[in-house]
Amino acid sequence: MVKLGFSIGDLQFKNPVLTASGTFGYGSEFDDFMDVSLLGGIIVKGTTLEPREGNLYPRMAETPSGILNAVGLQNKGIDYFEKQIYPRISTYNTNVIVNINGSYIDDYVALAERINRLEKIPAIELNISCPNVKMGGMAFGTSLNSAREVTRAVRNVYSKKLIVKLSPNVTNIVEFALAVEEEGADSVSLINTLLGMSVDVRNMKPALSTITGGLSGPAIKPVAVRMVWQVAKAVRIPVIGIGGILNTDDALEFLLAGASAIQVGTASFIDPQASIKLLEGIEKFLTARGFSDIKEIVGYINK
Ligand SMILES: Cc1cc2nc3c(=O)[nH]c(=O)nc-3n(C[C@H](O)[C@H](O)[C@H](O)COP(=O)(O)O)c2cc1C
Repeated sequence: MVKLGFSIGDLQFKNPVLTASGTFGYGSEFDDFMDVSLLGGIIVKGTTLEPREGNLYPRMAETPSGILNAVGLQNKGIDYFEKQIYPRISTYNTNVIVNINGSYIDDYVALAERINRLEKIPAIELNISCPNVKMGGMAFGTSLNSAREVTRAVRNVYSKKLIVKLSPNVTNIVEFALAVEEEGADSVSLINTLLGMSVDVRNMKPALSTITGGLSGPAIKPVAVRMVWQVAKAVRIPVIGIGGILNTDDALEFLLAGASAIQVGTASFIDPQASIKLLEGIEKFLTARGFSDIKEIVGYINK
């Protein structure tokens, strides 16, 4: 048996395959396709203090090798989450992590305080990198000072594991990773979507109502692998790799570059079983190559 587990501090994950926020609903949408509890963890939909309608349609556009989205954090808010969703998802036998978002630092703090009280949520993912909201979101993730401040403020009120999700829309992502590590992040996840744009030539209008949006999918994978490699060499906390992972080889690229775990995003729209399939693939690869513990291949390219 190959050991697949990884940990963030004292929080254990049974394997390194998680699902990315906004692409896996609350997990239960996938119950008909797989046993969600087999995953290392799920990161649920971006949650805010108040309900949000998200942006106007059209807010998704296909591009070669990727999706542009401007969903804008549509969700029913923390009250709804706590009453309707939490009881359901806390029965999963895996780590259920909430992705939190806000327009102001106080929003993040209030949300983190609420989630701190939810016994079955062992970690939050602090999203400071959403390119699709007018206020907050990426503004926090592209200013070093704001990234520091929001991380520090949340760290002050949140006692469980704090994962900070970084924006790729910066010149030097390593600076951001080091800054949030210094402010007490237990892990960093990267990357969120890359700012992009597409024009509908037939209508002679932007493809998205917001004009610009976030690019995800295979198109962003080389950028994500590069950033994960740079960050993993610089920080001491575990790095979670995200961006265009469709299959086993894609996931292995991130692990070999230094990620301790990965998140599957857009791939779940193409094949709802993508995450489970690539988990099986990782195990097969390790067995075939004679490794007994996944840790042996994390950052292997630097060895
Ligand atoms: C439709 C959609 C909604 C998303 N919503 C969120 C979100 O609420 N919070 C967040 O941190 N990231 C969100 N993301 C970003 C993904 O979690 C992920 O970082 C990004 O899509 C890159 O991974 P991928 O190429 O595997 O999709 C969203 C992505 C998509 C495509």
